[in-house]
Amino acid sequence: MTARWESEADVLVVGTGVAGLTAALHAQRLGLRVLVVTKGAAEDGNTRWAQGGVAVVLDDRDPSADSVDRHVADTLTAGAGLCDEAAVRGVIGAGPDAVTELIGLGARFDAASDGGGLARTREGGHSAYRVIHAGGDATGAEVSRALLAAGRDGRIAILEHHVAVEALRTPTGAVAGLLVLDPEGGTGLLRAPAVVLATGGAGQLYQATSNPDGATGDGLALALRAGAVVSDLEFVQFHPTVLYSGPADRGRRPLITEAVRGEGAVLIDATGSRVMAGVHPMADLAPRDVVSAAITRRLAEAPGGVDDHVYLDATGLAGPAFRRRFPTVFAACQAVGIDPATDPIPVAPAAHFACGGIVASTHGRTGVVGLYAVGEVARTGLHGANRLASNSLLEGLVTGRRVAEAVAEDRAACLLGGPCAEIDPVLPAEAVADRPVLQRAMSRYAAIGRDAEGLATATTTLDACTVVRPLRTPDLVADAALALVARLSLLAASNRTESRGCHVRHDHPERDDRIWRRSLLTRLDVAGQPILVEQTSLKGVA
Ligand code: SIN
Repeated sequence: MTARWESEADVLVVGTGVAGLTAALHAQRLGLRVLVVTKGAAEDGNTRWAQGGVAVVLDDRDPSADSVDRHVADTLTAGAGLCDEAAVRGVIGAGPDAVTELIGLGARFDAASDGGGLARTREGGHSAYRVIHAGGDATGAEVSRALLAAGRDGRIAILEHHVAVEALRTPTGAVAGLLVLDPEGGTGLLRAPAVVLATGGAGQLYQATSNPDGATGDGLALALRAGAVVSDLEFVQFHPTVLYSGPADRGRRPLITEAVRGEGAVLIDATGSRVMAGVHPMADLAPRDVVSAAITRRLAEAPGGVDDHVYLDATGLAGPAFRRRFPTVFAACQAVGIDPATDPIPVAPAAHFACGGIVASTHGRTGVVGLYAVGEVARTGLHGANRLASNSLLEGLVTGRRVAEAVAEDRAACLLGGPCAEIDPVLPAEAVADRPVLQRAMSRYAAIGRDAEGLATATTTLDACTVVRPLRTPDLVADAALALVARLSLLAASNRTESRGCHVRHDHPERDDRIWRRSLLTRLDVAGQPILVEQTSLKGVA
């Protein structure tokens, strides 16, 4: 097979979320020729769905009200013992500058009603009002808008509707570009000595998720096949509150931002009892893993164990004010005939964020020469076993900038691979899953609350529903990625015989710091089979 077309750049950025666009803008500023590749439209990145905001302690903050140290402490607490404290300090500490720069690019955040700077709200796990927001509950959309506008002004090239299938490699294993599928199903070669993956998460592993259709773990799968190590894949964060419309809910569900609880709404069950009373000192604003697990327990305890949703009672928030403050949530409720001013909102937990990912430094460097990872696809040590709400947009802004610096430095130091010689662009054949079967198995056996037997059943089900096929279409690429990511998550979840953060094991209900205060690393062996990696230190990726 010959490639229909070829193109060349200094750096390829895969993905158009906050991390990818920030990386592209900075790389261009540093004089690199940048090409952004995305499998959807430029606007389709996961970032635009983010509602709550950006957690950041800006310099105008009264130190008695909040501090970077408090933000660091909240992040470490939420991460349940698995954060890398240096990474946390590095990212949170760089947050104020990153947000100030974004505002300089034109992002408009909501002003406080008393005229005193920006409005701030609280979300789960935050001990202070520090989450800034835009358009009420449309923060991600505004961040995306501002970054895309800056990209257009800078004439950054974005190749839309092109799917990255696999990394091109030099004979020594360095990454040297990408094999991609174009919208007509043709193959193309994008040559570059540096590839930055900013492909987001894998919420589509589950039947219901807050993530868009494109969140299928493609970047993780591509990196694994290129030899990267991944970590913490057992920690899948479930958002406590997506809108529940019925037992047949599938795919992307509308998020009901945690900021609604930050402004006073509370979770109640079908009898009107508070779900979070007495569960955690922060009650409805406990870290997200605690709230999702408490909802799941409450549903299991319902008479006959038949309830599948609880309610978010926001009726105490005055009607017109709710509509102004949360226009996106209001519109989603209205679309299903719910008026949050008078009706408690039916909600259920849904897959939301991959706390683990490709092992990368906070500069995006992975263990593979020429391969970088930022944003949700990366595991930098910021999130540990459970991400603190609204830390991810911040991470994207900080690491997006840093990865561009890392690529420029590595290039200047001649650390990147040379061009690869003639390449025969053969589409790889990989194990492709039957997606509905995979999603059913993951939702039933590997969501909130797992045990050895269920995880083994999910693994067997997955093996039985995969067939090796050449990755000729975007759907096959996505279904192969889901199959691979599911297998690695199940491997990690089966091996972690304790409960911690988002990983709740019914058969090992306690946290075990003696054995498990460490991350579980996995990769593919030479035959392409997932294996655990003996851990020495994650700091090997500098
Ligand atoms: C939310 O608005 O509740 C989601 C924010 C986040 O996941 O960080």
